[in-house]
Amino acid sequence: MMARPRVVVAVVLPPAGLESLQLRYDVDVGSERPERRWLLDHVRGAAGMVAGPAVPVDSELLDAAEGSLKVVANFGVGYDNLDVEAVRARGIRATNTPDVLTNATAELAVTLMLAAGRRVAEADAVVRSGSWPHETRLLGRELSGTTVGLIGFGRIGRRVAELLSGFGTRVLYSSRSEAPAQDVAERRELPELMSTSDFISVHVPLSSETHHLIDGPLLAGIKPGAILVNTSRGGVIETGALIEALRSGRVGAAGLDVYEDEPDVPRALRELPNTVLLPHVGSATGKTRDAMARLCVENLVAVIEGREPPTPVA
Ligand code: DGY
Repeated sequence: MMARPRVVVAVVLPPAGLESLQLRYDVDVGSERPERRWLLDHVRGAAGMVAGPAVPVDSELLDAAEGSLKVVANFGVGYDNLDVEAVRARGIRATNTPDVLTNATAELAVTLMLAAGRRVAEADAVVRSGSWPHETRLLGRELSGTTVGLIGFGRIGRRVAELLSGFGTRVLYSSRSEAPAQDVAERRELPELMSTSDFISVHVPLSSETHHLIDGPLLAGIKPGAILVNTSRGGVIETGALIEALRSGRVGAAGLDVYEDEPDVPRALRELPNTVLLPHVGSATGKTRDAMARLCVENLVAVIEGREPPTPVA
């Protein structure tokens, strides 16, 4: 009998995906953030790998497979962890999980706008400490009636704009391309969006073009006191510059789900009262993670069985 193909799972894959992999293949499951050494050892001879934002997939790792690897299926829509050129050069396929997490991530962006605006984390900490604030403390800012700037207007940015329609906000976006005319958002150049928006939310993928897109000079031109939200990738914002802008009050508050060096969150960010900090949970609902797991496995199985995967990136 032919040996079953083996796959390496380097993320926490929900049972909706893991069990269907285990029915077909021998599966090596790593820890939540598997050691590099573990990955290098286990990828050798594997036909497929499930990776995620915390798993850098580079030439060294691909070569450690010694020619066996057919597919890297990313569990997530972002694939900045993949060296796409290195994958292509070896004739390996790579896939991601778009669409299924659009709503969950967009809802989290709106959650962070509201939470940062209404100082939810600060207020929660006061109650947990057993005290009660004076009525005039903890005054926040409403989202309704404000201008919201979306940096990036792909699937997630558009969904945020849709969700905001009930808040009566004016929505601006910056993007490389013009959105269809019927869109409810108006396109602006990035510096103008920064200087006119009360809330700003980041929805561009991380790439060499967007790395530190939001840097000191851009933050210097932000509307004073604006609230900045990031559910995309930490590397899009220059962290040091953001910390300075939060300290000076130029940025009124930040709601962050992603960081430059996860899982490390700079102490300065943690110590600032005007931040709401989440641990990269944009897609973390049971329903969405199950759908991501199913799509991720569908992609991986398709490639191993010699079919075109539903959502390839390489
Ligand atoms: C994504 O889909 O890229 C998320 O950040 C992964 O959780």
